[in-house]
Amino acid sequence: MKNFLLTGVFTLLICLFSGFIISAQQQEKGKAITKDLSQIINRSCAACHSDKGSGMAKMKVNFDKWQGYSAGKQVKLAQKCYQEVSKGGMPPKSFIKNYPGAALSPAEIEIFRNW
Ligand code: HEC
Repeated sequence: MKNFLLTGVFTLLICLFSGFIISAQQQEKGKAITKDLSQIINRSCAACHSDKGSGMAKMKVNFDKWQGYSAGKQVKLAQKCYQEVSKGGMPPKSFIKNYPGAALSPAEIEIFRNW
């Protein structure tokens, strides 16, 4: 009986511990910029959101500094990027007017959605 209880407690501890490790790993996971994304970003975002970009834009998102962002920040910014591109907020309309090639296709917006 005593052994049975001990085994039970031990199993429970293992379960709790592995659950803890898994959730810690999930928190650690940021968002990598894939090849597809980097092509879109270079074409449509980097003019403002990079080291050579403009003040306000690169303060909010600087894709050249992406690796240095925490995993949590990457996840939040990736969500914001999708929000912006899906509602047509980014790239700004005034920018697309001057650089029509910067407009995103539905397939490209889909890539941000799956990021
Ligand atoms: C012409 C310059 C320009 C381009 C090109 C541009 N942005 Fe921006 N972006 C800005 C500026 C300026 C801000 C800060 C002011 C604001 O939030 O509207 C900003 C803000 C943002 C924000 C933060 C919004 C918030 O509420 O915090 C995100 C996310 C973003 N841009 C994503 C993108 C993505 C993704 C692209 C490319 C598809 C892009 N931007 C292209 C100028 C630009």
